[in-house]
Amino acid sequence: METKVIKLDYASPDPKLLGEAGAVLRRGGLVAFPTETVYGLGGDALNPQASRKIYEAKGRPSDNPLIVHIARKRDVYEIARDISPQGEKLMEAFWPGPLTLIFQKKDRVPPETTGGLSTVAVRMPRDPIAAAFIQASGGFVAAPSANVSGRPSTTTADHVLEDLKGRIEMILDGGQAVIGLESTIVDVSVETPVILRPGVITREMLEAVVGEISVDPALIQPDSDKKPKAPGMKYRHYAPRAELTIVEGSPEAVVREINRLTEKWEAQGEKVGILAAYESADKYPRGLVKGVGSRRQEAEIATHLYQVLREFDETEVTRIYSESFADARIGAAIMNRLLKAAGHRVIQV
Ligand code: TXA
Ligand code: MG
Repeated sequence: METKVIKLDYASPDPKLLGEAGAVLRRGGLVAFPTETVYGLGGDALNPQASRKIYEAKGRPSDNPLIVHIARKRDVYEIARDISPQGEKLMEAFWPGPLTLIFQKKDRVPPETTGGLSTVAVRMPRDPIAAAFIQASGGFVAAPSANVSGRPSTTTADHVLEDLKGRIEMILDGGQAVIGLESTIVDVSVETPVILRPGVITREMLEAVVGEISVDPALIQPDSDKKPKAPGMKYRHYAPRAELTIVEGSPEAVVREINRLTEKWEAQGEKVGILAAYESADKYPRGLVKGVGSRRQEAEIATHLYQVLREFDETEVTRIYSESFADARIGAAIMNRLLKAAGHRVIQV
């Protein structure tokens, strides 16, 4: 299959091209599209065949449910039922935007889309190209992140092409995804809302709207026997090809330890990558150093994280050492993704 790449203008995407993309979905095909978080691999959420194709294209286990993307708030009532007052308040406060909510599903949503669950994940993206594309496709677009399962999520059309060329009909190129990390997921199908995946909409922001929220214990204690409530969180995602280890401690001790390890492995003929904040990037005389953003600008680190992990994949490095980042606010999402990419390998110094 040939994968067509279509460039769209962010501010005013061409309706004719969007119509073409929408027609692909209406026929049961797949189109990758930009959102403000990461690129999505879209198919018609109400067509079980299309959901099967999504799993196949990604090489993803089919017990891992998909998020249904909508373009108008009122469309949520077509696919979800028993929406709680907290659910209503969160939609009001954060849609359109990088927040996915879990509700009880209506029968219209096929089990293929929800991995057999009785709940459905719904998100209304803020990105204007995403909104127009969803509308052109019939209003309900199932979309996981547009990467091959086990690789970092994609934040540019080039990354999508790298992973999915020949496996999908079309890619809509809307430039770089501004946020760079996947949406926050909150389960509002239960009495007290639960965060299943951290994102740039933080716990503090959610609590300011609905009061107390809990966090899926499997997120806090990754090695506990607790099964994560978002099935996708149990897989080792976002994994670079080289072995990634996070080094945690005071800034000086971290620099010293990474320099020591780099020297040690280079002496044995290995190539070492270093993932650092801009502030410390010039403190590493050896290794392939990549700056990911400034510690004073967490959002910038979020935007570049997956890109930098992908760049390492194109090099010869066999080991990557990463500095650790602050764990508050957006930092919680950054560290969640980084720890998963590292398979929870952490050295404390
Ligand atoms: O920002 C995003 O959310 C991106 C863009 C494309 O919208 N999408 C995304 O999808 O990250 P994906 O498939 O890579 O991650 C969806 C996560 C998975 O961990 C999945 O297990 C969880 O959402 N999920 C989906 N439906 C669920 C449900 N009914 N109950 C619990 N978790 C669910
Ligand atoms: Mg994903």
